[in-house]
Amino acid sequence: MCGIVGYIGKRDSQDILLDGLKKLEYRGYDSAGIAVFTKNGLEITKSKGRLANLEGLLREAPLEGSVGIGHTRWATHGKPSDVNSHPHTDNSAKFSVVHNGIVENYLNLKEELMAKGHIFVSETDTEVISHLVADEYDGNIVEAVQRAVKRMRGAFALGVLTEFEPDRLVAVRYASPLVIGVGEGENFIGSDIPAILEHTRNVYILNDGEMAVLTRNGVELLTTEGEIISKEIFHVDWDLVTAEKAGFDHFMLKEIHEQPKAYRDTMMSRITEDGKSVELKELGMTAEFIKSIRKVHIVACGTAYHAGLVGKTVIESLVRIPVETDVASEYRYRSPIITPDTLVIVVSQSGETADTLAALREAQRNGARVLAITNVVGSSIAREADHVLITWAGLEIAVASTKAYTSQLVAFYLFGLHLAGTIGAQEASFIEEVITSMKQLPEQVESILEQSAVLKQVAESISHHKHLFFIGRGVDYAVAQEGSLKLKEISYIHSEAYAAGELKHGTLALIEDGIPVIALVTQEELYEKTLSNIKEVKARGAHVLGIANAGTEEEVAKSVDELFAIPKTLPLLSPALSVVPLQLISYYASLALEHDVDKPRNLAKSVTVE
Ligand code: F6R
Repeated sequence: MCGIVGYIGKRDSQDILLDGLKKLEYRGYDSAGIAVFTKNGLEITKSKGRLANLEGLLREAPLEGSVGIGHTRWATHGKPSDVNSHPHTDNSAKFSVVHNGIVENYLNLKEELMAKGHIFVSETDTEVISHLVADEYDGNIVEAVQRAVKRMRGAFALGVLTEFEPDRLVAVRYASPLVIGVGEGENFIGSDIPAILEHTRNVYILNDGEMAVLTRNGVELLTTEGEIISKEIFHVDWDLVTAEKAGFDHFMLKEIHEQPKAYRDTMMSRITEDGKSVELKELGMTAEFIKSIRKVHIVACGTAYHAGLVGKTVIESLVRIPVETDVASEYRYRSPIITPDTLVIVVSQSGETADTLAALREAQRNGARVLAITNVVGSSIAREADHVLITWAGLEIAVASTKAYTSQLVAFYLFGLHLAGTIGAQEASFIEEVITSMKQLPEQVESILEQSAVLKQVAESISHHKHLFFIGRGVDYAVAQEGSLKLKEISYIHSEAYAAGELKHGTLALIEDGIPVIALVTQEELYEKTLSNIKEVKARGAHVLGIANAGTEEEVAKSVDELFAIPKTLPLLSPALSVVPLQLISYYASLALEHDVDKPRNLAKSVTVE
């Protein structure tokens, strides 16, 4: 986790570093700091808490100089505090390091360095790196870093400076993302492209085991073994406007409203002009391979995992191939039965989630081909997967994922239809019917967004409660799980999602007078059963909000206290609509409780630690 930036050029580095850190705050916001070569040498300012604290300190006492590194932290080793903030230094204060990742063997290295007389002040693994580099230094910072990283185990993206060589900035990547921005008379490093995009569109994307030596006039690329390498420059053709709020109060609200566009962008170029089939040539998957798939594993974390739960139903019902969906952090450790005819689908908005990346590698080690559904072109997951399906949701900034989730659903619909079409698992007329209904989704989402005011009221009344439940059956249960996660993460209200039929096996004991229950009732073949479950909670005093299809609202209204109708679509597609009111309820509940909607406590947008 964490975000790193670096600058070497002719301009004052402080504001460039702070601006870069602002773009990276989604990666963590427990503390922030910068190190700059000033006329007094290598100076560091850092502070616990949001970036604004650091900005305040630097307003009082600016760090003037044209070379620097910066960091925004999501705490792993050591609590958020000034002393645990980055950049870290060694006892001579001549070296400075910013780090994203985890050094797994840091305790052994620390003991060894302490025995040599190094004194540590923080609880972090990163401080060990600055001491290790200092210890390895014998006049060449590049070689010192190479020797140091050879001794480190784990994941890291590093920016390293030493006062002995003030005209060089060294960057290394191993299993944590890092890009190098190439400017004119100035160069940059950043954990991701938006951090440097204001200054250059030309970037190198480092692979694991690669490093860059930046001077004002150039960038040298090499491996950590010291071998010089050359790489194509990646030209970024999107701009920063997408990273701004465009008049919305929060990125989350903006991103919720961008879902109709994200649907169109993800779907339209993949549907044939006659609207009869889905073509995914970009996958590079032959019909022969598709026909050889005997089972599918879907692996992901958090919200992406919830998309995978819907994906399971989509693939199983359209293609009739068995699918298992796993949380990535569990997958590797349960000895999954992966055979060469297993297709493993990893789903990740960021394309950098460490658990998901590890699952991808495990699948490949076992001989399976991996399809990545991801939102970030050029991300680690996109680069390592055998096949890639990009969700064109655009940059997602709010920590709570919304448009990325719904675009992942669309990706599953497209992929399911593509498989079904290729192996002839469905009638052509049914495929056409699904595509026709998919094309209506953007407008249907728009009509839900127009009713935001009603959902705001619901959210305000929910915000007075400490606990609530989401229930549903089939894909409604999958959506209930996503609704519950969304509410928890940004409103901090405790909620649980239950398969509606499972409540009576224990959880019903928690239902008491007035407790809110949000019941999804969109699956017509399960409709009667879900209504019975609603009656069970109502009989125990629950206050029920039903989310049902237009056309059934009168019937459902008889069993619930409040009802929100979503436009009618095919049962399989309903998650792409029913999740939207849940996103808005979470957003407005968080707002009512005056929480930081876009940056909920303890979280970060991109989780690059396992
Ligand atoms: C919740 C949320 C997280 C992510 C999860 C995986 O709103 O965003 O649960 O879905 O951390 O992240 P990606 O999709 O980047 O792999």
